[in-house]
Amino acid sequence: MSEQPQLPPIPKENKFKQALALGIGIWDYFEEKQAELGDTFTLTFPGQGPMVWTSDPDMIKDILRLKRDQIDGSLVQLPFDLGESNLVFSNDEAHHEARKLIIPHFSGDRMKIRANMMYEIVNEHIDSWNVSDQFDGPRLIGDITMDITCATLFNLREGERKDRYKELMLNWIMEANSDINFTLASVVGARKFRQFLNKQYISRSESGKMGNAKKGLLPWKRGVDLKVQLGALLREDIRDIRSRMDETESHTLSSLARTTDADGNLLAEERVISEVYGLMIGGHETSAATAAWLMIWLQQQPEENTKIREEVVGFIQKEGKHDPFLASQLPYLTACLNESQRITPSAPGFIRWLKQDTKIGKWLIPAGTAVLPNIYLTHRRTDIYGDDALKFNPERWMDKNGGNRSFKPSEFMPFGGGRRACVGMGHARQQLRVIFSEFARRVEFGSEFEGTNTLPRSRLIGGQTEPQLGVPITVKKIRPSDYGCPAIETESAA
Ligand code: HEM
Repeated sequence: MSEQPQLPPIPKENKFKQALALGIGIWDYFEEKQAELGDTFTLTFPGQGPMVWTSDPDMIKDILRLKRDQIDGSLVQLPFDLGESNLVFSNDEAHHEARKLIIPHFSGDRMKIRANMMYEIVNEHIDSWNVSDQFDGPRLIGDITMDITCATLFNLREGERKDRYKELMLNWIMEANSDINFTLASVVGARKFRQFLNKQYISRSESGKMGNAKKGLLPWKRGVDLKVQLGALLREDIRDIRSRMDETESHTLSSLARTTDADGNLLAEERVISEVYGLMIGGHETSAATAAWLMIWLQQQPEENTKIREEVVGFIQKEGKHDPFLASQLPYLTACLNESQRITPSAPGFIRWLKQDTKIGKWLIPAGTAVLPNIYLTHRRTDIYGDDALKFNPERWMDKNGGNRSFKPSEFMPFGGGRRACVGMGHARQQLRVIFSEFARRVEFGSEFEGTNTLPRSRLIGGQTEPQLGVPITVKKIRPSDYGCPAIETESAA
């Protein structure tokens, strides 16, 4: 008799209780289910197919090897209306082509030049602060990375248009990430919800009704207004770019607007806009959440922050100048970011909806099920990371020559993996490393986390795990911009 598809163990509590438990304390719930059901278990939520979470590295290897035609990207439960042709929701060849379009913008030589721009933006922020200023860590990082996004996507560093883009993007992302949108999407189905929003967006864009973006009775309405207004700015800019066709422009919107398909035709305007929305939102809450946990670790273990500062200042003195790109590759800084992403990853898992019955480890998982590597539980396995797996210990990322060691893709995966791994990984890692090396060099922060050794409760914001009450921090000391270094020569570019 042929093998019958079967789901790994399911918790005894009903679907609503499972969804609620995950929403209010995802890490605690994972640990509880692992203790009760083992490394692999199936969660079932109202309004969607079953989801098999696993922290078994052999099963994760099988998930990472899945081919494009085995996965249905359109079922991803993100409630963001990016347009269904966006690379995240696309399948098969369209997905492959979309990645080829985007990846060059976030890798290679562009990264070297962008490090200088990132360095300048972080320092502009630091220069605008005073001792005793208070911030919420993740929102502060969101503010800095949004300035970097304006420069990268639009080559805008200042001025009215930049301010308009920034305000609209921050507000749209906040609405798109709202709990209410995630709840509505899980009740009606994410794809249906996105299609509903997209219909409003298209018809309003065509009729030119911008909306007032006021908070209304309908929770999703403000998000649609903001997206229509953003779309209008993007359309104006794309038309401008296409009237110039200036090949020397390297910012992402310009390159995408000038890209042609296999037949030599420019991409449809809405297609360009769709990918740009994806890039705006893809790196925002993910970076804010990742930074939030690293801030807490560096407050709890300030000696690690001192080591980052000594590393960057030592590097500058050795080189005789500050090279932000090379500084962002320094091993101890990298070790601290890796360690924080290991033990407190922002994404709890990454998802593959299976189109057909598929063998994953010893299980034949039925079609219509999602399989998810459980990033959080895998990153805490003692058989991979040793007996101190629950300790924040950047040294585990250092090799005996003072460089960085690595773990396998099935063991360390804060950016997902396989054919749908994060396209912004290089950009995100570089931007966080520039931010944290400059924070370490120039700023001393204080917070309620100093001297503590337990983590605050986490909650999901926009699908990312963040400290429930944010990270309230106070600026205690600011060092001058040339602290530890002679003046640097930078060449800014988008
Ligand atoms: C620390 C920051 C970030 C984290 C932790 C993060 C994490 C992730 C994860 C876990 C995935 C799912 C991968 C998978 O399914 O295998 C993903 C996908 C993606 N990310 Fe990121 N990301 C970050 C920053 C960024 C940035 C800066 C961008 C854009 C500039 C970006 C754009 C995307 C896109 C477009 C995808 C979808 C890829 C696909 O479906 O083929 N991300 N990211």
